[in-house]
Amino acid sequence: KPLVFSGIQPTGNLHLGNYLGAIKRWLDLQDSHECLYCIVDMHALTVNPDPVELMQFTREVTAAFLASGIDPKKSIVFNQSRVRQHAELAWVFNCVARMGWLNRMTQFKDKAGKDRENASAGLFVYPNLMAADILLYRATHVPVGDDQKQHLELTRDVAQKFNNDYSDRIASLGIGVDMQVGDEQVSGFFPLTEPMISGPAMRIMSLRDGTKKMSKSDPSDLSRINLVDDADTIAKKIRKAKTDPEALPSDVEGLAGRPEADNLVGIYAALSGTDKETVIRDFGGRQFSDFKPALADLAVARLSPITEEMRRISGDQAYVDSVLKDGGERASVLAEETMRHVRDIIGFLQD
Ligand code: TYM
Repeated sequence: KPLVFSGIQPTGNLHLGNYLGAIKRWLDLQDSHECLYCIVDMHALTVNPDPVELMQFTREVTAAFLASGIDPKKSIVFNQSRVRQHAELAWVFNCVARMGWLNRMTQFKDKAGKDRENASAGLFVYPNLMAADILLYRATHVPVGDDQKQHLELTRDVAQKFNNDYSDRIASLGIGVDMQVGDEQVSGFFPLTEPMISGPAMRIMSLRDGTKKMSKSDPSDLSRINLVDDADTIAKKIRKAKTDPEALPSDVEGLAGRPEADNLVGIYAALSGTDKETVIRDFGGRQFSDFKPALADLAVARLSPITEEMRRISGDQAYVDSVLKDGGERASVLAEETMRHVRDIIGFLQD
């Protein structure tokens, strides 16, 4: 049965990349799949956040999910730390994954920077916790932006090694499921999760530099559109967005080598639910002085209702907290079901 899991860190500055690359794409899945959408507060701990801010951002991301149209009756919305089994399975995976795999993770290298000796050990094993998030629910599909691709490959490697290391035990307990790995038909406990990374929004870039991704941690606020920005701020940031002096090309191939133009066209496509071809059909040959106001209008029209709704929901902290509590209870039931099997498989005694 298809099951979707995805998550966002409550580290503040939720932006257009998070919305278009992740949240907006989650909405459509709610009717066809069982979905879990998680505010991954344990992941945020890897960068030692201020406790009061961590609570505030956890509620803010929850409000953003709800304001965007995530329905907590259909989907399970919860904060990660409520479901203790995430930490439990992450430990098991710390013992499955190899140092060499983690050493190759580019996001660790980026985030740790030059002073690697001083990075938290949590930051290093972060991808194992992410694999645990996903596999705790035996999720089959994970909709994320392109920057998470390497972590999802590691998740598959972890699942495969676990299935392999414990194959006899899984078979003797009779809890394996059949799946196709390459040409081979194998039986395993954890599914090999499919990343869902596609569409014009899988990599939204900085508005100040089309070669850098839009990021929560960019020191320049002009580099990103925050979900809490008001209409004037959104319009100003798009007006100030870096571009080259040429008009928009007449076909999408003409966007190659023009990262800023490519990015703005991609944002327009994602906001309007079309593709870059359609945007170029409408705007090809036009100057940025024409295109930017159209993009600003579209962005304001799409984002303002969400911002307003976010503000309204944030005002009702009791409601936000009750959504997380209810989601946490529902997730815990699923999580414990998997963990009971995992403990049996690896040889932990339990009642
Ligand atoms: P995080 O919190 O950095 O980002 C949340 C989601 O937003 C996407 N995203 C982008 N998409 C397009 N363009 C961008 N510029 C952009 N910036 C961010 C991310 O790809 C992501 O989908 N490790 C994850 C959180 C996580 C998770 C998980 C995700 C923890 N456990 C399990 C999926 C499944 C992270 O740091 O995302």
